[in-house]
Amino acid sequence: MTNLFLIVALLLWLSPQGGGQAGVQASQQDAVILAQAVQQFQSQQSQNSTSQNPAATSSAASPASQLAQSKDSQSKDAHDHVGKPLPDYLTGDQCLFCHRNVVGPTWQQEPHAWTIRDLGVPPETSKAPEGSTQVMGSAQHIRWLKQTGYGQFAVLADDGKTWQADVFAKRCAGCHTTGVDPATHNFSAFAFDCYACHGDVQLNHTTKPEIAWLGTKHVKAPREVVFICGQCHLRGGRSQSTGLPYPNNFIAGDDLLADFKVDLKRADDPTVNPADRHVYAYTRNVIERGSDQTCLSCHRVHGKPELKHAICIDCDDSAVPADPVAKDKAKIASSSKFRSEICQY
Ligand code: HEC
Ligand code: HEC
Ligand code: HEC
Ligand code: HEC
Ligand code: HEC
Repeated sequence: MTNLFLIVALLLWLSPQGGGQAGVQASQQDAVILAQAVQQFQSQQSQNSTSQNPAATSSAASPASQLAQSKDSQSKDAHDHVGKPLPDYLTGDQCLFCHRNVVGPTWQQEPHAWTIRDLGVPPETSKAPEGSTQVMGSAQHIRWLKQTGYGQFAVLADDGKTWQADVFAKRCAGCHTTGVDPATHNFSAFAFDCYACHGDVQLNHTTKPEIAWLGTKHVKAPREVVFICGQCHLRGGRSQSTGLPYPNNFIAGDDLLADFKVDLKRADDPTVNPADRHVYAYTRNVIERGSDQTCLSCHRVHGKPELKHAICIDCDDSAVPADPVAKDKAKIASSSKFRSEICQY
């Protein structure tokens, strides 16, 4: 089925009114037609065959099981994926084929898309050290990576020579890649895929857009939003089930704090850098104080980076730690070598 989807997608992409620059201008009708075609095919499939494919539970899950899975994942009780196998989510290329008009044109310039990238992909960096294949971060904070296997990186240590094999999977992967396998800690894609924030959005969302997490038609519960952003931005939390510093198979819609233990009092800790503190402060406001102001009250993820300064709704909100005053700065200098102990910069 995935193959058929790709073939249909490719044909449309290559057709005169499809792909390339033209595709960017093409109307959303293409997407709708494609979606209908795919859906029609899916319902035929689910009538004809109920998963004769022995690999149906792995990456080649049948469309019927995919749809069933995504229905489950919308029901409240089923929405907890700690330690479970990764769902067979749609990849970013598949999403972008249809969403090339709105998100496509700016996606590659958004920091979430390039947090890890192949050498040579902008933004530019200093000269890559011998052996590196990918880079992580931007001008000020850079780490070099070497792909060592499927879904595996070694990280270059501060000495500029030693490739550390065991650091990335156990200490970084969950917040800097997509689809980390709970059993092996290997990742599925090193760039953030749409799945990281939008969750397991299956094709039935094309006719029911309200089920797509974070979409304009989706009812956004404040907890849901801070959990989605907090899965990576609450630096300093720990998964109870794995002991690792990133969540165990969190998927949009899950209750992050069920397994990822976070000390929300860090919002008041002057030794924590102010950027991390404001994340803790707004998360605590939502979780403990019933606030409905979320990350999305002030931040946009998509769009041209230069048009995307945080929207400052109430910067003097007393719950927000202001920039550290002089005495806090002194404390930060003496107590912490790093801006983030977790990321080591
Ligand atoms: C809990 C999630 C989490 C873990 C674990 C984590 N990071 Fe990060 N990392 C982040 C977030 C979120 C940011 C962006 C923070 C910001 O901009 O305020 C970031 C930023 C960075 C940056 C700077 C990017 C830039 O452009 O400024 C580097 C480099 C980095 N991390 C490296 C690492 C390394 C290496 C590891 C493993 C040793 C790691 N991180 C582990 C969440 C995490
Ligand atoms: C870092 C989290 C994140 C990632 C990754 C992400 N999105 Fe979004 N997306 C959001 C948020 C938040 C919104 C709500 C509007 C906004 O903030 O720009 C949104 C909105 C949307 C919308 C609704 C239209 C709009 O702009 O309001 C579409 C469609 C969309 N995203 C598609 C995608 C696709 C396709 C990808 C992968 C290429 C993707 N998103 C990756 C967070 C994300
Ligand atoms: C077959 C085409 C197709 C694919 C593939 C696809 N979408 Fe959609 N998507 C649509 C259509 C059609 C809509 C409904 C029309 C609309 O609201 O833009 C939609 C709606 C959305 C919305 C809500 C938009 C809004 O403005 O509220 C989001 C978010 C979204 N999709 C994200 C994704 C993500 C993430 C993926 C990949 C996991 C994906 N889509 C894959 C066609 C597609
Ligand atoms: C899968 C992990 C992950 C998720 C989920 C995530 N982020 Fe990020 N975010 C990062 C990392 C890593 C960076 C640093 C990128 C870089 O500079 O290399 C970052 C950077 C940012 C930045 C600074 C750069 C910019 O785009 O202006 C903002 C603001 C931000 N994230 C907000 C959000 C919001 C809001 C959400 C929830 C809708 C979210 N993030 C979800 C990992 C994540
Ligand atoms: C009341 C508004 C407001 C809310 C709510 C808010 N932020 Fe921010 N955030 C800001 C401002 C202002 C800045 C600094 C200006 C900028 O970098 O664009 C900022 C900066 C950031 C940065 C970049 C820090 C850096 O290293 O430059 C990240 C990442 C971020 N916020 C994530 C989040 C997340 C995640 C949430 C939700 C838990 C959130 N913010 C909630 C206003 C807000």
